[in-house]
Amino acid sequence: MSQQTVRTVAITGAGSGIGAATVVRLDKADWRVFAGVHGTHDAEILDRQTSERVTVAPLDVTSPESIKEFGGLVDLELGSGGLHGLVDNAGKGVAGPLETLPIESLREQFEVNVVGQVAVTQRFLPMLRRAEKPRIVFVGSVGGLVAVGFAGAYHASKYAMEAIADAWRQELAPDGVEVALVEPGPLATPIWSKAARGLDALPENERYRERVEAFRHRLLKMGKQNPGPEQAVELILHALTAARPHTRYSGGITTTVLPKVRRLVPDRLFDRVSRHLTADD
Ligand SMILES: NC(=O)c1ccc[n+]([C@@H]2O[C@H](COP(=O)([O-])OP(=O)(O)OC[C@H]3O[C@@H](n4cnc5c(N)ncnc54)[C@H](OP(=O)(O)O)[C@@H]3O)[C@@H](O)[C@H]2O)c1
Repeated sequence: MSQQTVRTVAITGAGSGIGAATVVRLDKADWRVFAGVHGTHDAEILDRQTSERVTVAPLDVTSPESIKEFGGLVDLELGSGGLHGLVDNAGKGVAGPLETLPIESLREQFEVNVVGQVAVTQRFLPMLRRAEKPRIVFVGSVGGLVAVGFAGAYHASKYAMEAIADAWRQELAPDGVEVALVEPGPLATPIWSKAARGLDALPENERYRERVEAFRHRLLKMGKQNPGPEQAVELILHALTAARPHTRYSGGITTTVLPKVRRLVPDRLFDRVSRHLTADD
């Protein structure tokens, strides 16, 4: 492939789950990939799994210095060339009852899942504008359309990304920069076990103890019994390559059906149903 036709993409949160699977997939499809990875161990594994077309570099989306460094590295590598795609995928799940959640955890949830995505996108926009038909792909969630108890912080962050994606799509349309939002349903990735571990750090509270315990088991099950990240990878790939990408990509039956049912069902009835969604059945 000639230098001119090499497609370039930067991906955040690329060390595991959907991000890592997307890097591997795009590498196989001959993309030049800049993979921003949070953990050193994940970086070593990804580096071993991929070709020399993939540059694995540290990225903490909550750190302005880290974004500057990662952005500078990609800018330098691109030279006068443009960046065809940015996949804003980094994320974490902060779980726990809103009453006992340390306010710092709520802030961190928004720093990673919302503020970080905006900060990275701001840094990368000049590079994207140098490319023909550039794309920004935000990884949202069905959790940005339907909310259940004990995951309020996470849902709030993903609801916020619904608005950010809509606003940014409208703002960038005149410049020909496409913005897509991928909304995966539940997939088996490490995010669930990390969220379950986060519950251990919560202050003890007798009022919630049993329900939090049931929710922890539910989280651990979700990380095992769902399909792998490939489904989301295919949607991201479509958003990056389709002549006219969708504005939103629903990740399977849960994302297409659940929000519709949610709108039809009265709140109190949904609350009863959601107790089953959050309980360890
Ligand atoms: N899995 C699902 O069911 C599902 C469903 C809908 C949406 N999503 C979304 O998909 C995206 C990817 O999640 P995943 O399921 O693939 O989970 P994952 O394997 O935990 O991937 C998330 C990645 O983001 C990284 N990250 C966390 N904090 C970061 C920070 N401050 N700076 C940079 N990177 C950071 C994590 O690194 P560390 O772990 O080292 O911090 C991790 O590698 C997330 O936005 C998530 O909300 C997932």
